[in-house]
Amino acid sequence: MKKKIIKEVKKSFKKHFKTKPLLIFSPGRINLIGEHTDYNDGFVFPAAIDKGIALALQKNEEKNCNIYALNKEEMYSFNLTNITPLIDGGWKNYILGVISEIQKLEIKVGTFNCVFAGDIPGGAGMSSSAALENSVVFGLNELFNLGLSKAQMILISQKAEHNFAGVKCGIMDQYASMFGRKKSALLLDCRTIESTSFKIDFKKYKLLLINSNVKHDLSESAYNDRREVCERVSAILKLKALRDASKEDLDTIKTVISEADYQKALYVIEENSRVLQFSDAIQNNEIETLGNLLYQSHEGLRTKYKVSCKELDFLVAETKENKNIVGARMMGGGFGGCTINLIKKAEVSKFKEEISIKFKKEFHKECTIYQVKLSKGTRVIKE
Ligand code: GLA
Repeated sequence: MKKKIIKEVKKSFKKHFKTKPLLIFSPGRINLIGEHTDYNDGFVFPAAIDKGIALALQKNEEKNCNIYALNKEEMYSFNLTNITPLIDGGWKNYILGVISEIQKLEIKVGTFNCVFAGDIPGGAGMSSSAALENSVVFGLNELFNLGLSKAQMILISQKAEHNFAGVKCGIMDQYASMFGRKKSALLLDCRTIESTSFKIDFKKYKLLLINSNVKHDLSESAYNDRREVCERVSAILKLKALRDASKEDLDTIKTVISEADYQKALYVIEENSRVLQFSDAIQNNEIETLGNLLYQSHEGLRTKYKVSCKELDFLVAETKENKNIVGARMMGGGFGGCTINLIKKAEVSKFKEEISIKFKKEFHKECTIYQVKLSKGTRVIKE
């Protein structure tokens, strides 16, 4: 069955622009493990999901491009000369950013009409922004025969995020969204930008996401600050990136850097090694090890890298009381969004009920629980 949002954007496009559109679906992502390692040239383990952005687009003969954000019921028209980021531009900046980054490559884009909608909860740490960027670059590449490869497209999306949204993100989100595979997660080396695909089947267990509904805002300088710390420490170590550092290397400069910076760099070194341990444990089907690595990752993110928040910590701590959950951690950039949990399939509905009540009691607001399917990356939707 075709997704509801695909039908909706198609219908809305016809209503607004009276022509037949090209349809694109671009997914969001989860991440099994490997948080804040991507911009350190390290390893990550993401997967594209069945939630994302549906985008309908077609060339027009006007001076302007017209974009309709269906969820927000907002129309935005602009022309293709002198594109710059808007102040408080929100979704518009992701689209403008992609076009501008294509233009910087001296590739010409024509004017077009577009309608898009998404079913990724915003601020949940599931990369709705990467899904939007990828849908736009992929759609324009198809529409105007730009001849871009997927590898070029994700770099364009990433630069749009850097230069138009102000987040100096790594490549994980754009990669996972573009290259995702059905029922699989991708062990990605962020230095070579090459991945190995792993079929994901945890047998009696499954992944469950719990949204704290605390909206993270990555453009908050906290993300960029973390990246700066990592770059500063690796420069002192005279290494290209923290991926190349060991704990022993880091200890040689312990007295030269602040304790806070030491802890952050140590987290990255440890998390990077956890990703590889996780991929071994998947191959050997060691469910307890997988769970422990998730807990260790959360502990590092909470105490060393300091990107968690009380709601996420509560959600993870609660799972430790429950023997049916082998591991859990916060997922994505942090400061809100979701936890990812590895739970016994048979216990999902009972746990859902329990945690919802406990969360409400503690914070006087709701958490939201999702079960996602691991899915294919950005693609054209055939009629
Ligand atoms: C955000 C960024 C990614 C990555 C994660 C943390 O999602 O966009 O590049 O750094 O945070 O792992």
